[in-house]
Amino acid sequence: MIGIDIGTSYIKVCKIINNGSKRSSSLEDVEEQEDNRKQVSVIAAMKNVMDLEDNEKSEILSSILKDCDISKDSAFLAVGGADLIDKNINLVNEEEDAPSEEVKQNAINEFNNAMREEGEAMYTTHMFIKGEDKKTTNIICTAAPKQIIDSKINIASVGNIVVKGVTMETLALTNAFEQFGPSYRDKENVALLNIGNDVTNIVILKGGKLVFFKDIDFGGHTITKEIASTYMVKEVLAEEIKMNKELKNKINFFMPNVLKKTTSSLIENIFTSIEYCVNKQFVISVDRIVVTGGGCLTDGLDSFIEKTMGITTSKWNPLEDNNFIGYSNKDLGYFLPVALGLALEKEKK
Ligand SMILES: Nc1ncnc2c1ncn2[C@@H]1O[C@H](COP(=O)(O)OP(=O)(O)OP(=O)(O)O)[C@@H](O)[C@H]1O
Ligand SMILES: [Mg+2]
Repeated sequence: MIGIDIGTSYIKVCKIINNGSKRSSSLEDVEEQEDNRKQVSVIAAMKNVMDLEDNEKSEILSSILKDCDISKDSAFLAVGGADLIDKNINLVNEEEDAPSEEVKQNAINEFNNAMREEGEAMYTTHMFIKGEDKKTTNIICTAAPKQIIDSKINIASVGNIVVKGVTMETLALTNAFEQFGPSYRDKENVALLNIGNDVTNIVILKGGKLVFFKDIDFGGHTITKEIASTYMVKEVLAEEIKMNKELKNKINFFMPNVLKKTTSSLIENIFTSIEYCVNKQFVISVDRIVVTGGGCLTDGLDSFIEKTMGITTSKWNPLEDNNFIGYSNKDLGYFLPVALGLALEKEKK
């Protein structure tokens, strides 16, 4: 399976050749004792598609696939963004048992019907999270505009690529973290943020298990726009200023001011997401904020979040925390979580 993550600024392609599970079972392996990280082989590449039309994006995707030497394969895609509608339904049964199938089905039907009444055509899906006390079930229902899904399928339908499915970015992100997250992933409650160009996926994980997710309008583009308007320059130049240290020094650029101006909705959404999960008793507290995605490379953003939220904040690059082989550049890893999660889909029924 190849994971194709069609973002607003970059298309990322990823294929896992070997997920390391064989190696981790061979205990006598001397190398294994020296380095107990899983050895994983991946092919991965990405290219910029900022401001391109869908047909141009297809061409870029074809060239990425060519670079990766992938000609015929099945693919998984992801959708995300504030256009998706999520509803967390928390069902509690007063008796010892879990809520009945009928109660669960009614809740799902109610959501699906409400989405059908929306103006535009929506695809709906749902997942169950069972409470540890066995009396509660949390149903997360999601609806995505058909138009967004169709457009991504259209872009990805190139050559001999067969699109096998479309999932949510938040779920692909969760799967990637479950498989390739740092050692703290099973022990801590984590707010994981994939900061893209226009969208940030927020997921809250209790010892690696998903309890909450949400997409918000925030990303690298939010910061670029602010730089462009403050310095009265075009966005192309603002983007360059954002990424280039020398350029920043030249114009006495001070990132903390830009971060203060642009991150209020991000900070508020992290706060309310955590507060929601604590109030609903999904988690007692959140131990760590983890940031990934191209937007997390913004100078000082991680320490800004740490200071403002008062919670330890770490950057996550899946290629660094694991023993990955077979990719060109480790820094690519920050952009890859969603594509990696999509590439894992083959192992699921
Ligand atoms: N070195 C860097 N410093 C700061 N920002 C960076 C750097 N490299 C990339 N970015 C930003 O990362 C963002 C792209 O990240 P990513 O590929 O995760 O987003 P995307 O998937 O294309 O977007 P979305 O998911 O919102 O559609 C861009 O806004 C880009 O400006
Ligand atoms: Mg993205």
